[in-house]
Amino acid sequence: MNRHALGIDVGTQGLKGVVIDDRGFVLWSHTSEYETIRPHSGWSEQEPMAWLKAFHDVLDHLSSTSFIKSLKAVGLTGQMHSLVISNDKGEVLRPAILWSDNRSSDYAQVLTERFGIHNLLQYTGNYPLANFSLLRLMWIRDHEPDLFQQIRHASVAKDWLRFMMTGQWGADVSDASGTYLFDVEKRTWATDLMTQLDIPLAWWGKSYESPIVIGELQMGPSEIRGLPVIAGCGDQSASAIGSRLEPGRDVGISIGTSGVIFWPLTSWLPPSHPSIHAFCHAFPNSWHWMGVTQSAAASLRWFRDILGGTLSFSALDTMAAAVKPGSEGISFLPFLQGERSPLMKAESAGQFSGLSSVHETGHLARAIMEGVAFSIRHVWDTINPNNELDPENVIVTGGGAQSSLWLQILADVLGRPIVGMKDPGAAVGAGLLALGTISLPKLGPRTGVNIEPSSNCDCYQNLYASYLNRVKQLTQAGWK
Ligand code: XUL
Repeated sequence: MNRHALGIDVGTQGLKGVVIDDRGFVLWSHTSEYETIRPHSGWSEQEPMAWLKAFHDVLDHLSSTSFIKSLKAVGLTGQMHSLVISNDKGEVLRPAILWSDNRSSDYAQVLTERFGIHNLLQYTGNYPLANFSLLRLMWIRDHEPDLFQQIRHASVAKDWLRFMMTGQWGADVSDASGTYLFDVEKRTWATDLMTQLDIPLAWWGKSYESPIVIGELQMGPSEIRGLPVIAGCGDQSASAIGSRLEPGRDVGISIGTSGVIFWPLTSWLPPSHPSIHAFCHAFPNSWHWMGVTQSAAASLRWFRDILGGTLSFSALDTMAAAVKPGSEGISFLPFLQGERSPLMKAESAGQFSGLSSVHETGHLARAIMEGVAFSIRHVWDTINPNNELDPENVIVTGGGAQSSLWLQILADVLGRPIVGMKDPGAAVGAGLLALGTISLPKLGPRTGVNIEPSSNCDCYQNLYASYLNRVKQLTQAGWK
C-alpha cells in the first residue's frame, strides 16, 4: 500500500504543495504565488489570507489527481519568524511582518539594555535580532497600540495556516526558536521572559516537537478531510531534512531568497557569534546553527525584475558565464534588505560599484552571483573561523544552486569542494516528517553534483579580501 504525504511550504514567493512517497520522491507538485507588500523602504509584509487562498489553489489542483486518495498525512513548513497577529475570533489584525523586514532593528538594543545580554542568552540561548518575531511584536506595541490591545494569538506563517486548516493553535520547536520567546536548549517557551514582557503564553499556544500530530484537516475535498496534520517545522529545518543533512557529517548552504548556512549539531551548543542562531532542529533532541545573508537569489530576482522580467534566469546565467571572474571590475554588495549575518546592520545597503560604459547585462549578473558568494563566505567564516570545523560534505541547494556557474563561483570563493543538489525544497522535508521518516538512512543515498574549486580560486580569494575591505569601510562610515 502506498504511503504518500502532502507537504506544504508557506514560502516567501509562494505556497508550494508536494505529494511525496516515504523515500522523499516527489510525485506531484504545484506552486501558487502571492505578493510581498513594501509600504516603506526596508519593510516587507504579506496578507495571510493570500497564503490561505494559495493553499486552496493547491488543493484545487490536487483534487483532480489520483494522489488525493493515497494521502496519509499533511506536513507543514514555511518562512520563519514572519509574524501574524489575530484577535479573539481568530481574525488577522494586520498583514504579516516578514522575516526580511527591518523595521524593528532598534529593539535588539532595547532588549539588551533592559535585560542584559547574559540574561537574554540564559532565557533564549540566542542574541536578539531584528528578524525575530518578538521584536516585531514590540514594534506593534509601540506603533500600533490599538492593534496590540486586541491580540489574542500570535504565530508564524505555517502555524497560522495550521490553525486555519485544523482549528488548532500551536507552534513547533524549530519555528518557536525563531520567535525569541523560546528556551532553545530546554525546548520549551521562555515563560520568565514572556512574563517580564507581559506577553501571554496563551498567545502562542503549546509548543510541540515537529513530527507530532496537532490536528486534523478540516477543509478541502472529502478524501483528505480528517488527515492528520503535524506540527511541522521552519523552512530551513525542512530543507535540511529534504537534503538529508546528517549532523556531524554534513553542512547545508541554501542559495534561496535568503542565503543560509545550516549547520546541524550533535548536541546543544550556544551560538558562536551574535549574528548566528542556535535553534532547535526538527528531529527531537537535535539542534543546529544558522547564519543568514538576507538577499541571495532575491538579488538576482530583483535584477531580472527591474530589467522588465522578460529575461529567464538561464539567459542571465549564459550571459554571466561569458564574463571573466571579477566581472571586469564590477562588484556588488547584496544588502538589498539590510544584512543579518554577520553584519547585523539594517541600514546596510545594496551596491554596484566599478561600473563603466563597457559593461553589459552579463557583467552585472555575474557581479551579483559573486557578491552573494562572498557574503555566504563571510557567514561561513563567522560560524567557522579559520575552518576549525571540517564537515565531510557541504550540500548546496536553493534556486541559485540550479546554476552550475553560481555553484562553481561558490566553490571557488569558499575554496572547498561542494555538492550541488537539485533542490528537494522545504515542502519535501515537511512531507517526510509527516510520514514519520525521521531516520535519514531510510531515505537512501543523496544525488548531487560534486564541484571542486577551479583555477579561478586564487583570483576569488583576492576578490573576497577586497569585498571584506569594502564592507569594513562602509560599516565604519555608518553606511552613509
Ligand atoms: C531564516 C530566515 C529565512 C526564512 C526564509 O532565519 O529568516 O531564511 O526562513 O524563508
